[in-house]
Amino acid sequence: MNILAFESSCDETSASVVVREDDRFTIKSNVIASQVDTHRLYGGVVPEIASRAHIEAISSITYEALKEAGLGLSDIDLVAVSANPGLIGALLVGVNFAKALAVSNKIPLVAVDHIKGHIASAYLIENGVPKPPFIALAASGGHTAIYKAESYTDIKMIGTTRDDAIGESFDKIGRMIGIPYPAGRGFDELSRLGFIEATGKDEDFYAAYKKSAAYKNPEMTLPSPALRDSSLDFSFSGLKTAAINLLHRYEQKGIELPRALFAARYTFEAVEAVALKIDMALRENPGCDLIVAGGVAANSHLRKRLAEIAERNRVGIFIPPIGLCGDNGAMIAAAGYYEYLNGNFAGSDLNASAADSMF
Ligand code: KG4
Ligand code: ZN
Repeated sequence: MNILAFESSCDETSASVVVREDDRFTIKSNVIASQVDTHRLYGGVVPEIASRAHIEAISSITYEALKEAGLGLSDIDLVAVSANPGLIGALLVGVNFAKALAVSNKIPLVAVDHIKGHIASAYLIENGVPKPPFIALAASGGHTAIYKAESYTDIKMIGTTRDDAIGESFDKIGRMIGIPYPAGRGFDELSRLGFIEATGKDEDFYAAYKKSAAYKNPEMTLPSPALRDSSLDFSFSGLKTAAINLLHRYEQKGIELPRALFAARYTFEAVEAVALKIDMALRENPGCDLIVAGGVAANSHLRKRLAEIAERNRVGIFIPPIGLCGDNGAMIAAAGYYEYLNGNFAGSDLNASAADSMF
């Protein structure tokens, strides 16, 4: 089956052709038109600019995706589109384009939840499609949530942030220490330097960090965003506010901020909180494998730490390669396939929605 999928929920327009055969997915094309350079000027995504950029990009990237796959529209068996959650104007571009294309060419259409899409990015990796039930972390610019999948379409949220998302917090704090938007990747690299500075090691530095003098420095104390209860919930706004106060204290005292050590400390608290709650989720759901997805799944420290947690729980871990962690059409195709199997077809009345659907 040849699937043509669209993603336009935030600041990346993507069209992708994915083939499903012999129980696996093969990406034939995954064209992504990123708007980050445009939004960087404003320090974050400007919704109206995003919608306009999606409109400008979507036709040409669809041609490109089909051309790269060596297929025409008549070869497409299914159209899938990200329909929620996200920026409403941005989502509407993909939804209307996909609808027009599917209806006029009489191709079945399915709507995909963007978060189910992120989770499905782990179905595209080489070691095969994980089997439900599994636990999934979606960590992105807008989400920090833990899900339990009973099947590929029956996915329930079992924990979430009560306020800010982890990616959003990296972006905001990163911006305050001079890392351009989106700050996640720069934050990751700067933290690595901080861990090395704190431990004097350039291998296994993360494990040694807790014993270092830098970690014990009272000036650098930050709270854990893991809620101290039996829930699987987080509060990233508490960590963010404490970090802002810390930055102000350095500024007021006229002391230069040790940027790398600060970034390392922030990353440590963010990653350890996620590791703690994922560990709890895996213990509560014995035998479930772990999927780690979303833009923040590209974080090198998070990837390493969650691999340790999965190993400790003796379960498999499925993390997409860095190139599939951010928003892309291929993940929407993979998730769309299971909506199709489930008979969840969309019609010409399909609408986009800004809201989450998996509560
Ligand atoms: O999933 P995504 O592409 O878009 C949303 O659906 O939000 O995630 C984007 C987020 C941004 O906040 C970005 O800073 C973050 O992912 N990100 C990272 C890394 N690479 C991207 N965060 C931490 N470490 C990274 N290496
Ligand atoms: Zn996303």
